[in-house]
Amino acid sequence: MKIIYNGMLTERSQISIDIEDRGYQFGDGVYEVIRVYNGKLFTEDEHLQRLIKSAESIQIKLPYTIVEMKKQLFKLVEENKLTFGIVYLQVTRGVSPRNHLFPQPNTIPVYLAYTRELPIPITDMKKGVTAITVEDIRWLRCDIKSLNLLPNLLAKQKASEYGCFEALQHRSGTITEGSSSNVSIVVNGIIKTHPATNLILNGITRKLILEISKKSGLEMKEEAFTVDELLNADEVFLMGTTTEVMPVIEIDKRTIRNGKPGPVTKQLQSLFKDKIE
Ligand code: PDD
Repeated sequence: MKIIYNGMLTERSQISIDIEDRGYQFGDGVYEVIRVYNGKLFTEDEHLQRLIKSAESIQIKLPYTIVEMKKQLFKLVEENKLTFGIVYLQVTRGVSPRNHLFPQPNTIPVYLAYTRELPIPITDMKKGVTAITVEDIRWLRCDIKSLNLLPNLLAKQKASEYGCFEALQHRSGTITEGSSSNVSIVVNGIIKTHPATNLILNGITRKLILEISKKSGLEMKEEAFTVDELLNADEVFLMGTTTEVMPVIEIDKRTIRNGKPGPVTKQLQSLFKDKIE
């Protein structure tokens, strides 16, 4: 399998990561996950813009332009003959003797990208998934797509141990987002999702759903909601690159509505599908 390593298309087996890569030692870096549908990258401009923004917010300057990165990614997807899957991209501050201080300004960031096959989760999308609520123990810059995902991993693992798909995080009773997705509720036909503040990642899927809703006359508000509103909502759904628009039918062992994906969620799934094709 081919990967991109510092701007070069090369065999995965040829590359090894230095023990003093700051991403490896400190989680000092940022990442993106981009969907590939039918061999084509989906919303890649938005993802690459966010990658640059995340990198800049921790003072990493990417040595490539969006145009250059796109060119490389198209080649990568083509070489690996990927039809349905994802591209994972990661940038770290580079290799330097371990020190909490930033390394010398001439340190070259380590940039890599690789592909993986990943089918569309059709069964779950039709049936819906279950979730738990957990306390959001993350830092106050969740808008940066940082490699530091430990709280997200702990939340997701807990969900799995309860037999659930996702953990929905809350700060003092206000729902922020899932461990690897954004979340919306539907109450009396109105869709609500947490505003794009420092407390959530402003998901590309979330932004697309906001745009789709507006165009199709659905009312979607960027307004925070409580755990109580979540549990009593008519519909709940997740939004994310890997989850797409995913109905949630049970939370903390309480059934949402009648335990089936609701009409607004289904409409959004169908409108989202139209965007892909
Ligand atoms: N995660 N919130 C969090 C915390 C996320 O990790 C993600 C995506 C999202 C949804 O963002 P987007 O629609 O841009 O994918 C929201 C990716 C898929 C991951 O970490 O694998």
